[in-house]
Amino acid sequence: MYFGADFYPEHWTYPYAGTPEEPEARWERDAQLMFAAGINVVRMGEFSWGICERQEGQYDFGWLRRAMDVMAKAGIKVILGTPTAAPPIWLARQHPEILPMDERGLVKHEGTRRAYCMNSDIYWDYCKRIVRAMATALGDHPQLIAWQIDNGIGGHDTESAFNEESRRDWIAWLQAKYETIDRLNDLLGLRFWSQVVSSWDEVPMPMSAPTVHNPALVTDWRRFSSDTCVAFIRMQADLLHELTPNVPVTGNLRAPARKFDHFDMAAVLDFIAVDSNPTVKTRSAENACDLDMLRSLKKTDFRTPDREEGFWVIEQKAAQVNWQDVNSLVRPGVVRLFTYQMISRGANGILYFFWHQPRIGSEKFYGGVLTHDGRNQGRVYREICQIGEEIKLLAPILKGTKVVAEACILYSHDNEWTIDQPMQPNSYFNPRQHLQLFYNALHDRNIPVDFARPTEDLSQYKLVIAPSLHLLAGGEADLLKLYVQNGGTLVGTFNTGLVDEYGIAPDTGYPHDLTDLFGMEVMEFDPLPPGEENHLNFKGAFPTSHLHPAKIWCDLIEPKDCQVLATYAKDFYAGQPAMTMNTFGLGTAIYIGTMSHQHFYYDLIVWLRQMCNLFPLLKVPDTVEVSMRQKDETKIYFVLNHQDINVRLQFYKPVHDSLTGATLQGNYDLAPHGVLVLDERYEKSQA
Ligand code: GAL
Repeated sequence: MYFGADFYPEHWTYPYAGTPEEPEARWERDAQLMFAAGINVVRMGEFSWGICERQEGQYDFGWLRRAMDVMAKAGIKVILGTPTAAPPIWLARQHPEILPMDERGLVKHEGTRRAYCMNSDIYWDYCKRIVRAMATALGDHPQLIAWQIDNGIGGHDTESAFNEESRRDWIAWLQAKYETIDRLNDLLGLRFWSQVVSSWDEVPMPMSAPTVHNPALVTDWRRFSSDTCVAFIRMQADLLHELTPNVPVTGNLRAPARKFDHFDMAAVLDFIAVDSNPTVKTRSAENACDLDMLRSLKKTDFRTPDREEGFWVIEQKAAQVNWQDVNSLVRPGVVRLFTYQMISRGANGILYFFWHQPRIGSEKFYGGVLTHDGRNQGRVYREICQIGEEIKLLAPILKGTKVVAEACILYSHDNEWTIDQPMQPNSYFNPRQHLQLFYNALHDRNIPVDFARPTEDLSQYKLVIAPSLHLLAGGEADLLKLYVQNGGTLVGTFNTGLVDEYGIAPDTGYPHDLTDLFGMEVMEFDPLPPGEENHLNFKGAFPTSHLHPAKIWCDLIEPKDCQVLATYAKDFYAGQPAMTMNTFGLGTAIYIGTMSHQHFYYDLIVWLRQMCNLFPLLKVPDTVEVSMRQKDETKIYFVLNHQDINVRLQFYKPVHDSLTGATLQGNYDLAPHGVLVLDERYEKSQA
C-alpha cells in the first residue's frame, strides 16, 4: 500500500526554511521525518509552473529533480502533478485571451489558480509545452510512479467559460450532435418563447439573461462543458502516455459535486484519485457514500502504480481546514478513523494534505501533518506515525483485496444537471438527499453498495435502486427493463422519466418508457411544501406496521398489472396507490411514488434484503460502520466507531484483530473513534 503526503518543496526554501548558503537544507529533514512516519510516497509539483518557467521558454526543473533525489534517499516514491492548474502571471499578461469569462461576460483575472478557459487554443499550446518539458526533464526519474494531471479540475466553478473560443467549440459540438439547424430547433424545443435560430452562430451560450434559458439547451451546455474538461485532461493524458508510457496518470477528483461527468473523466485516467475533506461533523454515511461513488467511477481497466484494483485518496485532510467559518481542530483519533474508512471502501493509497503547514499564502491556517514549526512533537504527526506503523502491518493482508457489492444505486450527471435547473415541480426536492436516504439504509445495515450510471451492465447486482431518474434516455429505460427481465430487482421512484434525453416530456405517460416495467402509470403528481405531509397505509407484501409519512412529492398512480403495496391516507387521492410492485420477466420492479423519512427506508431495506438474499456483513449496533474487502475466500472486516463514546460489541465466537494481534471474544467495548480490522479467521471461526 502507498502511504504519503502532499509535499510542496517550493514552500520550504530560503527565506522560509534553510539558509542563504543551503536554501534547500530543510528537505532532508522533511524526508527523514516522512520516513520515520512510514511515508513511502509524496505528491508534488502541481502548482509549480511559475517557478519552473519564470520566463517563457526558460525552464528550470532542477529544483524538483533535487527534491526527488532527496526523496530517493529515504526510499520515498513521487507522484508529479502537471502544473497547469496555476498558469504563470506572465502568460496571462502576454495572452489575456486565455483568461475565462463568466456568464456576465466579465473576465476572471490572473493572480490565483484556475484562471484559464479550457477552450483556448493558446492555453492548450502552452500546456502541451510545459507538460512536455516537465515529462522530458523528470519523466525518467526512478522515483516517479504516477502523474497527476492538473489539479482540482472544475474547482472554484471553473467548469465553463463564456469566451469566444468557447462559443466556437460550442457550435462545433452542436453541429456534431444535431447535424442540421432544423433538428437542433426541434429537439431543443426552441419554438418555446420563439428562440428558434436560423444559423449555428445564433445559438446562444446560456449567459446571464433576464430569465431562465431553455432547459434542454442548458443541459447541452453542461454536456459540452463536461466534454471540454474531459478533452483538456485527455490531451495531457495522451501526451504523458506518449512521453512516459510506463507511468500511469491520475487526477484529483472530488465526490461528484463538480459539473462534469465523472464517469467520462474516469475513463481517460488510468486510476482514480480523490480529495477527501470530511470534517469533524460529517455524518459518516455521507462520507462513505462519497467514497463509494468515487470508487465506482472506474470498475475496469485499472493501471495503478502497485497494480492493485482500487482508488487513491491523494488529498486527505490531515488536520483542520481553512474554509469553514470556524475551523476547529480535528479531534484525536479522527484522522485515523477516516483513514480506515477510506481503506475499508477500497483505497489503496492515502496521501495527507499537506505534509507541512505552509508559512506563506492563502492556506497558511490549513493544518498539516507538521505545524508551522516543522518539529516532530506535534499531535497530528504522532497520529500519522501510528497509522504508518499500522499500514505496514496491514499492507500484506490487504494485498489483492477489494470491495465487492451486490447492491447498486444509479445516478447520472445528465439527470442531475436537468433536475438542478430552476422551474422544477418542487424546488425543495434535493436529489442527493433522496439518494442518501436509500444509501443510509444500506450503509447502516452494513450492506456494501456500488454506484453506476443507468447505461452500465447491471447483471452482477441483486438489487438496483434508481432514485428519481427525471431525465431518462430511451436506451437507459431499455437497459433497466433488460435487467429486471433477467431476474433483477429494481426500485424506481417518483420524478422518474418526466423527460427524455432531449428534455422533452413524454406523450405516452409517466414514467417515460417504463409504464410496462412498473405495470402502472403516473397520472399526475402533487409536490408538497416543506412541513406538509400525507401518510402511507401499507398492505400486501411489504410488511411494515409503522406510520410513515409521504413528503415533498406524491405521484397519483393508476395501477395496471402491478400489486399495490401502499396507498395515501388522505387528501383527494386518499386510497390511491403510493407504492407498487410488478413482476416483469424473471424479475421484480418496485415503484415508490413519494419520499418518506429515514425509517421508511430502513424498513424497505430490511424487506428487500430478504427478498434479494443480501446479507449484512456483521451484526453490530447501528452506529458502528462495517465494510469489507475480499479476495477469493479472504475477507477483511473493518469495524469503525464514529462516535465519541464507547460502543459495546458482542463476539459470540473468537475474532482476530489484525491491528493488535488480539483475539476478541464476548463483550468488547470499542473505544471512541476506535477501529478494528478483523481478518478471515473471524469467518472461519464462525463456520
Ligand atoms: C483541494 C486542492 C488543494 C487545496 C485543498 C484545500 O481541492 O487540490 O490544493 O487547496 O483543496 O481544501
